[in-house]
Amino acid sequence: MKLSKIISGTMNWGSWGANYSPQEVSKLINCAYESGINTFDHADIYGGYTTEKLFGKGFKISGLDRDKVVYISKCGIMYPCDKLPINVKHYDYSKKHILKSVENSLKNLNTDYIDCLLLHRPSPIMDIKEISDTINELIDKKMIRKFGVSNFTASQMKLIQMELKISFNQIEFSLTHFKPMFDGTLDFMQINDIKPMAYSPLGNYFSSKNKALLDKVKNISLKYSCKEDEVLLSWILKHKSEIFPVIGTTKEERIARSLKAEKINMDLIDWFELLEASSGRRVP
Ligand SMILES: NC(=O)c1ccc[n+]([C@@H]2O[C@H](COP(=O)([O-])OP(=O)(O)OC[C@H]3O[C@@H](n4cnc5c(N)ncnc54)[C@H](OP(=O)(O)O)[C@@H]3O)[C@@H](O)[C@H]2O)c1
Repeated sequence: MKLSKIISGTMNWGSWGANYSPQEVSKLINCAYESGINTFDHADIYGGYTTEKLFGKGFKISGLDRDKVVYISKCGIMYPCDKLPINVKHYDYSKKHILKSVENSLKNLNTDYIDCLLLHRPSPIMDIKEISDTINELIDKKMIRKFGVSNFTASQMKLIQMELKISFNQIEFSLTHFKPMFDGTLDFMQINDIKPMAYSPLGNYFSSKNKALLDKVKNISLKYSCKEDEVLLSWILKHKSEIFPVIGTTKEERIARSLKAEKINMDLIDWFELLEASSGRRVP
């Protein structure tokens, strides 16, 4: 399983965003694949439990082979919507629910296996022994290949690691949301060889009113002859924990150019100038 350095997130491809048809989804999949992105990020809940099915249909039309691509999916969030009419949003990591969720994802994505299954968010009352039993069963049955978590702190990762090896933690991380770099989250992952995936990698840049940040990113994009989103991605890629950004764009041209960020070797000074512009203060 070789993940592309940039992962294409599907959260906004369906009813939570662009509302694409299966044909339009297939074009995005082909565009990603042709530009070097082989990895797609899913979750059972996207589109109110409908987007995995849309992707499955789009993938069929794309004509690609399943073994050429990598699927990440997530389970555990019980999200009130038409498909799940419940009163309260909550998390369910019971064996019964995890198994059911993975079976649904496999059916909807039209595949025999998920390359990496993530627990979507930590539950305050999760039973790590029950989770570990279930994940091992899924691995034994070849329904999933790797296991990871999402939105877990260092201590929550430590708790899970008492029972299970974590391969990935998908966290929110960007130039405008860099707390994981200073609260021990990324350090813990580096020490324990847990690879980070960064969701919302553009942060709030495109809606930001921070003029210093907007000016700095624009200047740096001119210096490296690239677009602003490539600057934001290359800033993340400079971190030594080997982060995989999960991009959320629904536009072909933005998907197609995103891997160019890997080619930018940002100067040390530019990296710190961006951090200073975003945080509004010098490093101590
Ligand atoms: N694990 C979790 O809890 C979690 C939570 C949230 C998301 N995720 C995953 O992470 C993925 C990415 O998250 P995200 O959507 O927040 O990521 P993002 O890539 O930071 O943001 C994507 C948004 O930025 C816009 N955008 C991109 N390039 C732009 C540009 N040059 N100018 C203006 N707007 C631009 C996109 O609009 P266009 O579509 O118009 O380009 C889209 O609305 C999701 O698809 C999902 O797979 C995971």
